Amino acid sequence: MEKKMKALVLSGGKGTRLRPLTYTGAKQLVPIANRPILSYVFDNIAKAGIKEIGVIISPETGAEIRETMGDGSKWGVKVEYILQEEPKGLAHAVLVGKEFLGDSPFVMYLGDNLIGCGIEKFIEKFRKTGADAVILLKPVESPQSFGVAEVDGKGNILGLEEKPNNPKSNLALVGVYIFSNEIHRAIASIRPSARGELEITDAIQDLITKGRPVQSHILDTWWLDTGKKDDLLAANTIVLDEWFKRKIDGKVDKASQITGRVTIDAGAVVKNSTLRGPIVVGPGAVIEDSFIGPFTSIGNDTKITKSIIEHSVILTGAEISHVNRMEDSLIGRNAKVIKCQDKHEALRLMIGDDSVVEV
Ligand code: TTP
Repeated sequence: MEKKMKALVLSGGKGTRLRPLTYTGAKQLVPIANRPILSYVFDNIAKAGIKEIGVIISPETGAEIRETMGDGSKWGVKVEYILQEEPKGLAHAVLVGKEFLGDSPFVMYLGDNLIGCGIEKFIEKFRKTGADAVILLKPVESPQSFGVAEVDGKGNILGLEEKPNNPKSNLALVGVYIFSNEIHRAIASIRPSARGELEITDAIQDLITKGRPVQSHILDTWWLDTGKKDDLLAANTIVLDEWFKRKIDGKVDKASQITGRVTIDAGAVVKNSTLRGPIVVGPGAVIEDSFIGPFTSIGNDTKITKSIIEHSVILTGAEISHVNRMEDSLIGRNAKVIKCQDKHEALRLMIGDDSVVEV
């Protein structure tokens, strides 16, 4: 009988590109529309009927990930956390997860990737074609910065290259893969790359070289690798736009005006303010005498006073006060942006490492 499919979610790594946010937390937990990225990953896996998820974690952020995501009961799945002592590559993560995976076929899902559709179609392709791997591809403008695939007319993968100078196509590898247990043999036969990591592209290339069938599927929806600030704002915009509805559970006073798809969670308070959706406001947030424009996520326990904010992500516990206009911004946890009310126009800043301030 065919073995049940499992999922391996990669949630270790260093997260250097999202600093300073990732100095204090895991990048896979950075919220998109007030939900951790990993929640969307779990949504997709559970929706595909997979019941067992192994989550690769690092010593630095593992506890936080475990605490936030829990035992999986919220999704009706069983979660096992697997420690990877060092981020030695995506294929190394599979090696670490080998005991959990056993002989089962599995979906490998990078914990910082968001895609605009479910994964059922890709699993179906894996089953129908009997391939040892199905990889997801997406045309991109600068294939040089991605893993790139060369594909024949039938979707068979002819070869893979990691960040090539002269890419053979514009098809980048998206962070969702489906493997049979053949991948373990392939991983056992590869060596670390020039950057010292066990690369999953090398393991898939090994399957191809040995004549094993590797299929591809071109993603026809959006894909965001949430590793950078602009991608994060883009992800926030798309998710608010496509997946959020009008739902007002918090307290809104009579002097306030709420238009469009605005989600205000129970425990949030809006006073004398205008909110134009799509917007999400988390529990414990207090918005007073302010204007909040489209594509903004206001995190839990934040305080917004006398400010104008648009197309921004404000994380838990942050405070914004008397700021005339804030756009395209990402404000970290417990950060404060306050315009002083005294006469001389000096900036008084306490900015953490790797922060960016445009004034
Ligand atoms: P990457 O973004 O490729 O690597 P990174 O997390 O080290 O990030 P940065 O470039 O910002 O320093 O990783 C993709 C996903 O896979 C991410 O969710 C982290 C995870 N990962 C592991 O779990 N183990 C690993 O050994 C590596 C390299 C990544």
